[in-house]
Amino acid sequence: METGDRNGDDIMSAILVIFGGTGDLTHRKLMPALYNLVLDKLLPENFAVVAVGRRDKTEDEYKKDIYDSVNKHSRNKIDAAIWHKLQNMIHYYQFDFTNMEGFQGLKEYLNQLDQTAGTEGNRVFYLAVAPEYFETIVHGIQISDMANKEGAWSRLVIEKPFGKDLMTARKLNNKILEVFPEKSIYRIDHYLGKEMIQNIMVLRFCNSIFESIWNNKFIDNVQISLTEKLGVGTRGGYYEHSGAMRDMIQNHIIQILTLVAMEPPTNLKTDSIRTEKQKVLEAIEEITPEFLRDNVVFGQYGPGIIDGEPVPGYRQELNVPRDSSTETFVALKLHINNFRWAGIPFYIRTGKRLAKSSAEIVIQFKDLPNILYFKDEEIQEPNLLVLRIQPNVGVFFQFNTKDFTSHHGIVPTKMDTSSFQPMQGNTPEAYERLIYDILRGDATLFSRWDEVEAAWTVADRLIAYREQKKSSFPNYDAGSMGPVRSFELLAKDGRKWWHV
Ligand SMILES: NC(=O)c1ccc[n+]([C@@H]2O[C@H](COP(=O)([O-])OP(=O)(O)OC[C@H]3O[C@@H](n4cnc5c(N)ncnc54)[C@H](OP(=O)(O)O)[C@@H]3O)[C@@H](O)[C@H]2O)c1
Repeated sequence: METGDRNGDDIMSAILVIFGGTGDLTHRKLMPALYNLVLDKLLPENFAVVAVGRRDKTEDEYKKDIYDSVNKHSRNKIDAAIWHKLQNMIHYYQFDFTNMEGFQGLKEYLNQLDQTAGTEGNRVFYLAVAPEYFETIVHGIQISDMANKEGAWSRLVIEKPFGKDLMTARKLNNKILEVFPEKSIYRIDHYLGKEMIQNIMVLRFCNSIFESIWNNKFIDNVQISLTEKLGVGTRGGYYEHSGAMRDMIQNHIIQILTLVAMEPPTNLKTDSIRTEKQKVLEAIEEITPEFLRDNVVFGQYGPGIIDGEPVPGYRQELNVPRDSSTETFVALKLHINNFRWAGIPFYIRTGKRLAKSSAEIVIQFKDLPNILYFKDEEIQEPNLLVLRIQPNVGVFFQFNTKDFTSHHGIVPTKMDTSSFQPMQGNTPEAYERLIYDILRGDATLFSRWDEVEAAWTVADRLIAYREQKKSSFPNYDAGSMGPVRSFELLAKDGRKWWHV
């Protein structure tokens, strides 16, 4: 078992065991990510991938499937020599993981592979399977004693969602802790693998012009918007039990919120950063009935038009009940009650089938008195700093300058370093970073249990409120920017959502 908070740079020899080796995630994200890690020489020399699946396939058939997927989804074109290297590392192991006896066979297989691959007993167990199997697999690993090799380390990578509420998340966590210590658990939030998300800390803590004004003296409000044009497509069955709260707020948005609001960590050690993020969650205002009544808006899309094409409403989607009360949109306002943020609203919004697909954070700075250069009817635009996460990636800044075409006018001037990078979704690129960090033993970009627990505590209250509230869904048209009430949420504070 490993010890300590590594944050190491050395990539360790290991076998990556992917449960769900024939699944969509493995094909579209994990294998293309591994290909690019080989290309960039970021995998250890002694490395093997054991893909576990149920399907009856020979190893050659499996590799052929993976070749096709990598060819389709990799950010780099396939190079024969690189593929050859990767395919030599890949092994297909067929077994049904609900059969507990099968784990003993897998353990022996991995031990033998150690001899030929030189992987020294180190293991990464990646659960790329439906969440209902997480505990089953962890139990299999436990009873076969697969994670306890003398002199070696084992890590567990667990995909989202981590539980469907606080209770199930706790139960899952307790089961995992019977087998893996917290420091060996890597709870994936692929959003944290995105470059711009990692850049939030760099922007804040490596630029004195930002960090010195990153507080309630200078900032008027913060807006976090993760919006999608896409509907639920064929994932209606999954989404029906998830909704926007579990799909986006509990994980990605709360993670972004903590990065925007955290205090500078004392150093770059994993636990220092996670502790600061956790403090933000602890400082979120109490969720009272009044808070829920006044600060939360749920929505569900009806039919509408997106990019000139008619699209169905959520209740008409595949595997969605015609009277579904699942939310496809959430907007909320909250406060973080600490010295830095007291009094500053954080507005959050996420939704499907909206007019625009984008993820961005808008920092609106306070207005200055309207005394200079102004005609009475003119309104001075505030300074805005926009951190664009996708599809544009980079930073936008708006500030005021003199309008040289008039005597008194002022015009907002825009500086934009962002560029259009449409592939910045849930991409293999984010997984490249995450897999690389797992192999280095750096858990900074993964969620610690207390963060997950605190996020569920907030999300549970909101979900319970939505479930007991009589909803009048659908309440926004596909192709709009969400329910009217989400605009009123800001308008009643004299503010508006920014679209810059
Ligand atoms: N797909 C994505 O883009 C994506 C994105 C973010 C998170 N995730 C998360 O990643 C996880 C996997 O999602 P996915 O879309 O890849 O699912 P998927 O396509 O349905 O794949 C499920 C995998 O589980 C295997 N499996 C199921 N039952 C099994 C059993 N009894 N024994 C052995 N293998 C079994 C399947 O093997 P066989 O097919 O051989 O039966 C298949 O490889 C989920 O937790 C999901 O929430 C996925």
